[in-house]
Amino acid sequence: MKTAIVTGAAGEIGAANCRALLDAGYQVAAVDKDPDGLDRLEKQTAAAGAIKGFVADIMSMDSVQAMYDDVRACFGPAAVLVNGAGAVTAPSLRQCNEADWVSDVDLNLHGPWRCQSAVLDDMIAAGNGVVINIASINGLGVYGYPAYSVAKAGLIHLTRFTATELGRFGIRCNAIAPGSVMTAAWDDRRRRDPDLLDRLTDWYPQRDLCTPNEIAALVRFLASDSALHLTGQVISVDAGLSGGSDRMVADFVGEEF
Ligand SMILES: NC(=O)c1ccc[n+]([C@@H]2O[C@H](COP(=O)([O-])OP(=O)(O)OC[C@H]3O[C@@H](n4cnc5c(N)ncnc54)[C@H](O)[C@@H]3O)[C@@H](O)[C@H]2O)c1
Repeated sequence: MKTAIVTGAAGEIGAANCRALLDAGYQVAAVDKDPDGLDRLEKQTAAAGAIKGFVADIMSMDSVQAMYDDVRACFGPAAVLVNGAGAVTAPSLRQCNEADWVSDVDLNLHGPWRCQSAVLDDMIAAGNGVVINIASINGLGVYGYPAYSVAKAGLIHLTRFTATELGRFGIRCNAIAPGSVMTAAWDDRRRRDPDLLDRLTDWYPQRDLCTPNEIAALVRFLASDSALHLTGQVISVDAGLSGGSDRMVADFVGEEF
């Protein structure tokens, strides 16, 4: 069995990614800083032995390296890395202080770089490997959360660098850019603003939001040999948002369309 590492595994998107890769036949190292969340995931996942939680903080290289040493000892070298751990702090430039800026960039950009750095030697030695970065539409356009967005834009460019520099060693790297996905990351805002979901959904051309399982289905595809020559790309799963705004088109054309 090949080994897949999934970070942010205690979150809903991460857990869906773990399940999709288990279904595809991988043994999965589920990585998160939240030990209780990893315990819950292990108990809820009907694949005893094939999934194991590893507690690590991706904001520390020592922690990431210790995690990878443990994963290697338990499951063997990584064939797939899914960088999914991430979070936001300040919603706007005027509300963003230095600590917010530094922590968002460290978590959302340097964190995936640390995880990738830990596994690359093994992937190069094996002559193949797949890195999948969970970016965001915030890395492609301006939708609030500046430090997080700049980090995700950086992650998209790191994706291109990895694919370009390491393609000759058999390594593929792609990014997924989800639109809004109603996970626990939204819980606080939805408690404070119960109509948020309806208002947000209205901006998406499909008038709907994608789910963790849709992200996970794409992760499974990108990890597979069906995507053998798909590399260096960013794929949006965003109910049409990055394609354009039908609400704006309605104002432009000035008639029912
Ligand atoms: N939910 C959305 O609307 C949305 C949209 C676009 C992109 N994304 C991206 O998808 C990914 C998952 O998002 P989610 O909504 O499931 O979030 P979530 O908050 O539910 O899960 C994120 C997980 O990352 C873990 N984590 C945070 N900091 C960590 C650290 N330093 N070390 C290790 N683990 C850490 C958390 O403990 C949590 O379990 C993130 O990268 C996020 O930026 C989410």
